Amino acid sequence: MDHKVKDLALAGAGSLKIEWAEARMPVMAQLRQQYSDAKPFEGWRIGGSMHVTKETAVLLRSLVAAGAEVVWSGCNPLSTQDDVAAALVKGGIPVFAWHGMSREDYYWALDRVLEARPTLLVDDGADLIVRACSTDRAGEIVGATEETTTGVHRLEAMAGEGKLGFPVIAVNNAETKWDFDNVYGTGQSSLDGILRATNLLIAGKHFVVAGYGHCGRGVAMRARGMGANVIVTEVDPIRALKAVMDGFSVMPMAQAARIGEVFITATGMKDIVTGDHFRAMRDGAVVCNTGHYDVELRLGDLEAASESRREIRDNTIEYTMPDGRRIYLLAQGRLVNLAAAEGHPSEVMDMSFANQFMALLSLTREGRGLEDLVHQISRDQDERIAALKLQSMMIGIDALSEKQRRYFEDFGSGT
Ligand code: ADE
Repeated sequence: MDHKVKDLALAGAGSLKIEWAEARMPVMAQLRQQYSDAKPFEGWRIGGSMHVTKETAVLLRSLVAAGAEVVWSGCNPLSTQDDVAAALVKGGIPVFAWHGMSREDYYWALDRVLEARPTLLVDDGADLIVRACSTDRAGEIVGATEETTTGVHRLEAMAGEGKLGFPVIAVNNAETKWDFDNVYGTGQSSLDGILRATNLLIAGKHFVVAGYGHCGRGVAMRARGMGANVIVTEVDPIRALKAVMDGFSVMPMAQAARIGEVFITATGMKDIVTGDHFRAMRDGAVVCNTGHYDVELRLGDLEAASESRREIRDNTIEYTMPDGRRIYLLAQGRLVNLAAAEGHPSEVMDMSFANQFMALLSLTREGRGLEDLVHQISRDQDERIAALKLQSMMIGIDALSEKQRRYFEDFGSGT
């Protein structure tokens, strides 16, 4: 079996991590149990580009248990957990990913996945889908799923120009995905990344969060929970207003740059923190990013503004300015939660990946009839996943009576 990972000797440690994740992903366990006899993915080859983590491993094993053939690459040069990648290969899944791969290696790995002639794709950030649509392989692909906000934006733009070669389901947009993974997952894992890289005390720090979408909101909430004074920067007036009414300070980055002690970008946009901002920062400021791509911090400007640099801790580079001030960059400006920590916890990825599993299942049934556009997942799927998650937590909820249901539908019953 063709593959490329860092070191197969790490497989034992990887298997233990996967076992840990599996025990915390009860919705995935249910799906696996439900579909492992019928094997609805038999005859389907699923090619993926997604962070190679213990949670992703649970998704891949579940797809294989349901009959799929799977071939995988990472979706970020710094997010692969090498022990997990080794365990997957040992378990018979071809993986092309290792921590610290170059941009060239990264695209080489995507091409290995496409060479395997997948009939379904799973993507996180849309690099694989964009690549597939530029080759003559697109015609063999029945459909794809996209995991993240940035990827969905890219694919909607592509569909708008008529360049999408197959239908894509926006898994990101499921309520059981983005209201949980993007908020609580990103909130916790980003703080985890900052803490593992720096071991700073969060309490009392001025914490600047750029972007108040789902991810930014999660980070702001969790930083406040640990005692930080949180400042939010935004370009969208509605989101800015939400941040104000959630109790955060809101101001332009030019102003926040002079106050902040920890900066984290979560916008999906480029050039959020640039030269003037770096030049205005206090001594000891920490800067990092949790958006999908490493474009939010303009690192060329930081290099240009500084006089010297050195690696002072794992995942932490110290830049010294001509006047002696020091700025600390985490995880090379890449996703701090995956590069400096382990990504979102298993419990929340359980719902995200249940959405992936069910979206892929729907593509096997209906993919050939869908237009080459970005499609939303069904309300039914969302509700089913939420119900399974609640059940696994042993939490019961009420149900509407028939009388209540009729009341809801009767426009005549007002005052
Ligand atoms: N994205 C964020 N956290 C993740 C995780 N734990 N596994 C896969 N993708 C992720």
